[in-house]
Amino acid sequence: MIINSAEFVISNVDYKKCPVSELPEYAFIGRSNVGKSSLINMLTGKKDLAKTSSKPGKTLLINHFIINEQWHLVDLPGYGYAKASKTMRDKLKGIIEGYVLFRQQLTNLFVLVDSRLAPQQIDLEFMEWLGEQEVPFSIVFTKGDKQSTSQLNANVMAYKKKLIETWETLPPIFVTSAEKGFGKDDILNYIESINAQIENV
Ligand code: GTP
Ligand code: MG
Repeated sequence: MIINSAEFVISNVDYKKCPVSELPEYAFIGRSNVGKSSLINMLTGKKDLAKTSSKPGKTLLINHFIINEQWHLVDLPGYGYAKASKTMRDKLKGIIEGYVLFRQQLTNLFVLVDSRLAPQQIDLEFMEWLGEQEVPFSIVFTKGDKQSTSQLNANVMAYKKKLIETWETLPPIFVTSAEKGFGKDDILNYIESINAQIENV
């Protein structure tokens, strides 16, 4: 898929205030600082579209972007920012859960995990919860440029092995670098193929 246009639409704290629209929607979630906003900028080719920061806790709202006037892309706040107050963490959890559970247009959630780390309990539990709630999701490994290709491949293999312990089938998996741009076509083509299926229904 070629991105011809990518525009910010609106930010919200509440899924109920999100745009009234029938367009398919793809959202990006994961731990704070994992690289959600950077990935969105890489995918759209607009480096300042979503706000990024080297400090965790940058994105605190549900941010809608419209792509090619055909589908919505959504940047979500991160979960599990250990240094945030409990009140803040609970608030973000409420925003994320409300959006994930009740946003009818949500077509696929991309769950981002840091490719350098061993599987983290918080991510595995979040995916289990998605499974229980029957929310379709894919896994995106981020920051692939921050280690050697062989280490990256070994980490992805180890992650799959861990998932196979609890999942019968693996979700789609993408390996990316916002810095180097790899993984872009895989993700955009995946979104395009789902959009095409929806159109044909
Ligand atoms: P919150 O909004 O706080 O939840 O964070 P986020 O998940 O949106 O992360 P963000 O995109 O703001 O990136 C966090 C930091 O990681 C920034 O300093 C980015 O430059 C860096 N980063 C993100 N993706 C990559 C990547 O693929 N490679 C490298 N080298 N750095 C990355
Ligand atoms: Mg962000």
